[in-house]
Amino acid sequence: MNPLATIVEDRSLAFAADDPMAKTCTLALADGDGHASARTLVLREVTVNGLVVFMNQSSPKWRVLSSGGHYEVLLWYPSIQRQYRIQGTAKELADEGVRESWQLRPDPGKRLDFLYRDHPQSSPIKDRTQLLQSVIAKQQFINDGHPPPNGVTAFHLTATMIERLDLSQELEVHDRRRFTLRGDAWISQVLVP
Ligand SMILES: Cc1cc2nc3c(=O)[nH]c(=O)nc-3n(C[C@H](O)[C@H](O)[C@H](O)COP(=O)(O)O)c2cc1C
Repeated sequence: MNPLATIVEDRSLAFAADDPMAKTCTLALADGDGHASARTLVLREVTVNGLVVFMNQSSPKWRVLSSGGHYEVLLWYPSIQRQYRIQGTAKELADEGVRESWQLRPDPGKRLDFLYRDHPQSSPIKDRTQLLQSVIAKQQFINDGHPPPNGVTAFHLTATMIERLDLSQELEVHDRRRFTLRGDAWISQVLVP
C-alpha cells in the first residue's frame, strides 16, 4: 500500500479533531555544505503522488531546494499521536496553477510577496518601522489588481522514504515502520521504536 494514502487519511483525522498541526509541516533541509535548517510551512496539499509547499524564490530555503539540497518533512499530529518523516526529491512547480492559487491568498501574504522584490525574505532590514512602512506601501499593488509578482513558487515533494510512528499502541510499545520505494513498489519494514 502507498503510505502517502495513509498520510492523507491520518491528516483528515487530524483536521476532524481540530488538530492545530494538521495545516502545517516542518521542512528540514541540508545544503551542499552539510548545514541543516528547519522551518514550519503550510502544507498546501498531500496526495498519493506527494506533497506541495509554497514559498518565495528570494528565500534561503528556495536556494537550497532548487540546487538539489536534501529534504526531510516532519508531520506530527498530537490529536492522533502519529508522526511521519518523509524524504525524497523536490521539483519546482512553475505552472499557472501556482499563480492562480496565489490569487486566493489573504492580503498579508500577498503584500509580503511584493515586498520580497525589494527586500528578500530572511534578509536583515533596518528596523520594524521601515518594515511596516514598506509592507503597507505594497497594498497598492493588490488594490490595483497587479498580477502575482515574480518569485511566487511552489515545490512538489515526491516521497521515496516514509517513516510512520504510531504512539497509540498497546503496552506503550510504539508501532514504527519504514516504507521505501523500490521501482513502483513500497517495501515495508518494522523498526525498533
Ligand atoms: C504556522 C506557520 C506557517 C508558515 N507557513 C509558511 C509558508 O507556507 N511559506 C513560507 O515561506 N514560510 C512560512 N512560515 C515561515 C517559515 O517558518 C520561515 O520563518 C520563513 O519561511 C523563512 O524561512 P527561511 O529563512 O528558511 O527561508 C510559516 C511559519 C509558521 C509558524
